[in-house]
This record gives sequence, structure tokens and C-alpha cells, in this order.
Amino acid sequence: MDAIHVLGGNALFGETKIQGSKNAVLPVMAAALLIKDVCVIENCPHISDVYHMQQLLGSTGCKVVRSGETLTIDARNISEDTMAGDHVTGMRSSITLLGAMLGRTGEVTMAYPGGCVIGERPIDLHLNALRRMGVAIYEEEGRFTARAKTLEGAVIRLPVSSVGATENIILAAVTAKGVTVIQNAAMEPEITTLCEFLREAGAVIEGIGGSVLMIQGGHTLHGIRFRVPADRIVAGTYLMSVLGTGGHIFLEDAPVAQMRSMIRTAEKIGAEIHVTRDGLNIIAKDYKNPIPYIKTEIYPGFPTDMQSVLMAVLSTCPGESVIEETIFEDRFRIASQLRKMGARVELKGKRQAVITGVDSLLGCEVAAEELRGGAALVAAGSMALGETVVKNCHFIERGYEDICRDYQNLGVNIFWQR
Ligand code: UD1
Repeated sequence: MDAIHVLGGNALFGETKIQGSKNAVLPVMAAALLIKDVCVIENCPHISDVYHMQQLLGSTGCKVVRSGETLTIDARNISEDTMAGDHVTGMRSSITLLGAMLGRTGEVTMAYPGGCVIGERPIDLHLNALRRMGVAIYEEEGRFTARAKTLEGAVIRLPVSSVGATENIILAAVTAKGVTVIQNAAMEPEITTLCEFLREAGAVIEGIGGSVLMIQGGHTLHGIRFRVPADRIVAGTYLMSVLGTGGHIFLEDAPVAQMRSMIRTAEKIGAEIHVTRDGLNIIAKDYKNPIPYIKTEIYPGFPTDMQSVLMAVLSTCPGESVIEETIFEDRFRIASQLRKMGARVELKGKRQAVITGVDSLLGCEVAAEELRGGAALVAAGSMALGETVVKNCHFIERGYEDICRDYQNLGVNIFWQR
């Protein structure tokens, strides 16, 4: 019975603080496994993916203690090389532990990772890259074992700049013998955060922020205190929301430098945006312009994780908008739910959505099918007239600490039904 009730249709006014980043904290937690010491990680969001990662680290013998937003990870003693199935299959980013476990123990058995149903999401790029570093992979039904006597540095050109594969190669490379070069590396801010964490801990990494990373393996890593940046996708969710409702909001701690493409898109829709020293001030006055064409892209382009909430907003912008999804092949599941709310969304194949704006969405019962789409339905509920009930909200809790609290801070009448 994890539903969210939203009484929508009113402008948003208020301010809310943006939580720490899910996609940044998870690889950093995995990286802590490589360090035979104690790491203190600040600004860790209270979300179920972090909880699962804590359990996974615990299952290796690592000691993880949470105090408020701070996690202390003591990886001095590691025992197990098998990852507990339930936690692995529940979360895509558990695959990041592959590189970290190989780096630490040279062997790991994992169930195939799960995560949101937004397309195929294979792990071939991860496994092929690790093979090039001397890892042998034995696949069995539903799980696989990866083993390396010694990890060897290698030159790896990724055919697709996969975020997860880049993270895994980095994690394996910091303990490998020799130099690893990653060409066509993902440039998402979460990769930069992971590299900065490792560099502060003693790793030697060059090219941070760019598409070619060079990692010199074998340096001793030591425990550090590190702060996780704020979540650009959570901030983007509220930035887009206010364009569907109108109003004036302030997003404290929004990671502005990572949000350029979202800010540009919001400005095209009609937002007036002011960057301040501690966040983002958004005024939606002359708003609701459609966007003739936009596509999701790798960073620094418009993020695929923001695509669903953008679709919700464009549903309320009179005129025609077109969204092309270039990253995942099945990420328009929200369209059928938005249609229930009165949106006019036509799918052209699996990659293109044509949205014809309506005057207003109408509240009704909808169901989340995955994390970002679920959050977008809550955003749609804040725009819709009447009451929207969003079911299956455990998906949203994978990445949002408390979406109701945040919307309440922005003046929305919204509550959990547990
Ligand atoms: C990460 C993010 C996710 C975001 C995505 C794209 C985390 C925990 N998740 O996911 O929120 O939507 O980046 O920015 O950080 N691919 C393959 N083979 C592979 C790996 C990927 O074909 O082995 C394909 C995928 O199917 C997809 C594309 O590459 O089409 C990009 O995926 P990738 O960047 O790997 O996404 P994730 O790391 O899974």
C-alpha cells in the first residue's frame, strides 16, 4: 500500500534542500571496498538503493555505520566473495561492486543485476572490458563468477560510453598492474565524483571530466572523509515541476554546474532562472512553451533520467513537442499513465514521443513502473487538477529520500499512504 496522494493544480511556492546524489554515492560506496582503511562519506541520501548497498558491503565483511547523513565504511577486513542475490538483483548499480571486489579480492560471484525496467540493460561492456584486464568470467544460470589472478592495466575503447562500465573499469584499474586507458569514457558528473574520491584516497587518475581517462594502478589507498554532491536529477525534477504548475521556488544546494542542459531546457519552456551562491531560484511566469524537438544524450546533453518528467511538463504546454530517447530503448512507459491523466502522447516506435499539450492534466489513479517515471507521475500529479494517486511508490524510494516532504516544502498538498 505504498501510494502517494497529491492534490494538484496549484502553483509551487517555497524552498527545499536537495539531497545527496544516488548515482554518485553508490560507486563511491563500492570504491570504499578497495581501501583497507576507514572512509567517512558525508551527504549520503536516505534511499533504498543506499540501504541495499550497505547490506551488500556488509555481506563482504565490511562494517558500515550510518549516523544521520554520514556513512562510515570500515573495509579493513573483507571475507566473502559472493554477493547476496536479493540485494544484487534489486539494484542495477550493484554491478559496480564487480570491479571493486575484483580489485580487492580477485574474485566475485554475483547474480545478474536488476534495476529499473527501461530497456535491455545488458552488462556485456562491463564483462568485455574486464576480460581485457585479465579477468576470466564463468557464466551460470542467473549468475556469474569473475576471477583474476592479477588485474592487468589495458587500453580499453568503449563502443558505447556506458556510465556503469566506465565505473567498473576505473575500480578495477586502480589496483591493477600498470596503466589503464579508457577511451570514450562516460563523462557524467558521477564519474568525476568517483575519480575525485579515489584520487583523494591516493589513486593516480588523469583526464578527470574528459572522455579519455588514464589510471595508474597499484598505488596504496588510504581512508578519507568525502562529501557526496547533491543530486542533479532530484533537483531537475523540481525544476521541471514548477514549469507545469507555475510559481517561484528555490532549490538549495542544487548542483548548478551539472545542470546546464536542464536549465537551458527549462529556459526554453519559459522559466526565469537565477543561479545564487547556494542554489537555484526558479520563477515560472511566462512559461509553457512547447519544445519542437529535444533528444536525450550522454552528458553534458539532456539526461535520459529527466526525460519522463520533461514529458509530464510538455503535456501541459500548448502546441507540439517531440522527445527522442537516444540512450535506452524502452523508456516511454510513463506515456500510458500520463494518457490516463488526459495527456496526448503519441509514440512513434520505441524512441520518439510526440506530445500535444493540453490545458490541464486531470488527477486519477496511476502506477509507477520504475524510479524516474514514478517521480514524474508525482510531478504530473502536482500539475493536475484534483487528486492523483500514484501507486507502487517503492520505486521512487530507490532514489528520492522523501518526495512528499520535498513537495510539501514547495507548498503542495501531498501525503504518503502506507
Ligand atoms: C547509469 C545511471 C542511470 C542513467 C544511465 C545513463 C546509475 C546507477 N545509473 O546507468 O541512472 O540513466 O547511467 O545516463 O548511475 N549498455 C550496453 N551494455 C552494457 C552497459 C550498457 O549495451 O554493458 C547500454 C545500455 O543498455 C544503454 C547505454 O549503454 O543503452 C547506456 O547505459 P549506461 O550508461 O551503462 O547506464 P547505467 O550505467 O546502467
